[in-house]
Amino acid sequence: MSGGRSRNWRIGSGIAWVSTSLAIVVVGVLVFTRLPDRARKSIDGVLRSLARRIPGARAIHHRYLESRSRRDFSTSGDYWERRYVTGGTSGDGSYGQLARFKAAVLNDFVSEHRIRDVLELGVGDGNQLGLAEYPQYRGLDVSAEAIRMCRARFENDRTKQFGLLADFDDQPAELTLSLDVVYHLVEDDVFDAHMRLLFGASTRYVAVYASNYDSVESAIHVRHREFTRWVGENCPEWVLDHHLANPYAYDPRDHSGSLADFYFYRRAGTQSLQDN
Ligand SMILES: C[S@@+](CC[C@H](N)C(=O)[O-])C[C@H]1O[C@@H](n2cnc3c(N)ncnc32)[C@H](O)[C@@H]1O
Repeated sequence: MSGGRSRNWRIGSGIAWVSTSLAIVVVGVLVFTRLPDRARKSIDGVLRSLARRIPGARAIHHRYLESRSRRDFSTSGDYWERRYVTGGTSGDGSYGQLARFKAAVLNDFVSEHRIRDVLELGVGDGNQLGLAEYPQYRGLDVSAEAIRMCRARFENDRTKQFGLLADFDDQPAELTLSLDVVYHLVEDDVFDAHMRLLFGASTRYVAVYASNYDSVESAIHVRHREFTRWVGENCPEWVLDHHLANPYAYDPRDHSGSLADFYFYRRAGTQSLQDN
């Protein structure tokens, strides 16, 4: 083959390779977005586990999830329902070392303060709850799919009950929980209602596990809030007893860890938790 023909052949096969790859990506995206929920669920599961195992893949997966949620977003409640129905989970904060950290702190707290019943707003998929040791527990969520999953998962556990937030019967508990929920409440009225219910439904203590600064994020389902300011302005009968920093703080290089810390509140006039 002459030099000119060989160069033309290389250019031709390069163009063919690029066009074929592009076609595969375009067809893949079109097919994926039109797949039934069950198939998307399996593919999402594979992508999630690959992202956890392959170095660097976590950040790419993170960006992919962000762009998908931006395309689909309408309200925070709808976001979570859709996320669970399509096979998503409650997120990294409900798994692995972060879930173990949350459970260890809360189990100690419940045992030390002889808490008899716990009410959680935003129970999620129930993975973190699987590590909890509470005498009695009620979990509420905006997502019907989350409640369905939790009922199935804890079917034989008579200490745990689940219900939709909209069906809450106003029965209070000694400890109310909001774990990895506050910074997902992007609408002001939803945030306000969540905080009022959280503090209104507790007779003794409130535990919040969240970030605590104001910032609008690129991820459409995230909005950080300085929620302690809201409590200071709206709940004069509550005192921030102590703050517990997260030993697994967020690392922007690989998006591991968490921006949330624990904040424990008690009713004013009751003994400090630290004195017990
Ligand atoms: C990141 S997950 C956390 C789940 C669980 N608390 C945990 O720590 O593993 C956030 C959960 O909050 C729920 N959620 C969102 N908005 C809510 C609201 N206004 N009231 C109650 N739950 C809500 C979502 O459906 C989702 O299940």
